[in-house]
Amino acid sequence: MKLDNENAFGMIGLGTMGSNLLQNIADKGYHCAGYDNSTDKVESLNNLKRDTIQGFSDLKAFARSLKSPRIVMMLVPAGKIVDDVIDELLQVLDLGDIIIDGGNSHFTDTERRNLALKDKGYHFIGMGVSGGEEGARKGPSMMPGGDKKAYEIVAPILSKVAAHVNGDATVSYMGERSAGHFVKMVHNGIEYALMQLISETYEILKNGLKYSDVEIHDVFKKWNEGRLQSYLLDITRDIFAYKLEGKTDALVNDISDQAKAKGTGKWTSQAAMDLNCPIPTIDISVSMRDLSHYKELRVKASKMYPNNNLQYDAKAEDYIDVLEQAFYFSMVSAYAQGMHLLFKANEEFKYDLNLDLIAKIWRGGCIIRSAFLEDIFTAYQKEAKLEHLFLDDSIHNNLTKNIAGIRTIVSDAVLQGIAIPAFSTSLSYFDNFRCASMPTNLIQAQRDYFGAHTYELIGKQGVFHTIWEIENKVE
Ligand code: 6PG
Repeated sequence: MKLDNENAFGMIGLGTMGSNLLQNIADKGYHCAGYDNSTDKVESLNNLKRDTIQGFSDLKAFARSLKSPRIVMMLVPAGKIVDDVIDELLQVLDLGDIIIDGGNSHFTDTERRNLALKDKGYHFIGMGVSGGEEGARKGPSMMPGGDKKAYEIVAPILSKVAAHVNGDATVSYMGERSAGHFVKMVHNGIEYALMQLISETYEILKNGLKYSDVEIHDVFKKWNEGRLQSYLLDITRDIFAYKLEGKTDALVNDISDQAKAKGTGKWTSQAAMDLNCPIPTIDISVSMRDLSHYKELRVKASKMYPNNNLQYDAKAEDYIDVLEQAFYFSMVSAYAQGMHLLFKANEEFKYDLNLDLIAKIWRGGCIIRSAFLEDIFTAYQKEAKLEHLFLDDSIHNNLTKNIAGIRTIVSDAVLQGIAIPAFSTSLSYFDNFRCASMPTNLIQAQRDYFGAHTYELIGKQGVFHTIWEIENKVE
């Protein structure tokens, strides 16, 4: 028989993520309680028959079982459900208790909930949790933001539960109010870009170079053993080796090409547009998932515009190394765009983010963990206020060495009619970023021409307007 006030941690939402995280917490020696309104899920939790985990179908009993101040984490779908659960929780919690939202909530919702709960006298932490089901069980990366004092109470538990890299837990206080969910959203935006880059690489290997599943597997395996090492390449390698019994082809060949999305990538693009911060590799990755859904139109168009070129000429032996360079370059560009967005958001929202800490906790446990995050971490350790990663000396050095590779891959693919929008966007972003003078002076003139929107002149103060049609008409 369990006593009341005994459990150190409560979880609301006993889906696989919630249940796995609870088991992880119990593994670290904490007594835990889980609540779900599905009796099946509560039963599954109790069927684990672990002495230190108790499942509840009654919210009051769940709350009673928790030590004070209560720590209650929600892992429920983002949106209205989170508000509903909070409303129910407020009926059974006491002032001073801590509520953690561990789902993928939109940062503006977290901002609102943070203020509302603070006003009412509760502590609220909006926390991004990354790593999927396996991460939850074995050690996720966690991005808490909001009430710092409350975080300090929860930190000893979270630090034990997180993944560890070189002895450091992959959890750290991110910053004020909605900082945790903003950082997690950008993590997901980068995740979209990396996944798109990997799928474009697959396109080149499969439809350009006519590689078999085994050969594609071998390329990803080799890359994953070098500087491109990452969780996403790790799982991609395995996907190309996975066959159903009796099948000769890898399962991936039988999967529909219409990619689903829960929306965090789109949110990243929307937030970036609102902040006037360009993140084009992430944007195009969101758009390509959307385009994948226009199957009927694509099938029709494929008949009208067949690509008869889709075969690379015989390539140099080191072509896969050139492709690796292109991937490296674009990967750097994707992370750099995401980190720039964090820099901008920090200025605008006064989150008090530390970009080095973010890179540090992304090195393990999360979906975008990769060897390159060590370089990002080092860059921000050198210069905490670095506005853009392209301006770091060591990253500059590495980018310069890989430009030839990305130019070859993009130009070859363009000539062959192979779509690699994330690669080419990463390159164009770079080419424009390093332009002291963009052609946007013409846009200024056009705006002034048709709308009298005025323009600025180089080296002169003030704004100017010209009656273009009358003054400069060329006959
Ligand atoms: C993570 C992931 C996770 C996300 C899935 C699905 O960090 O563990 O980002 O939070 O929900 O990857 O995302 P999409 O459905 O948008 O692809």
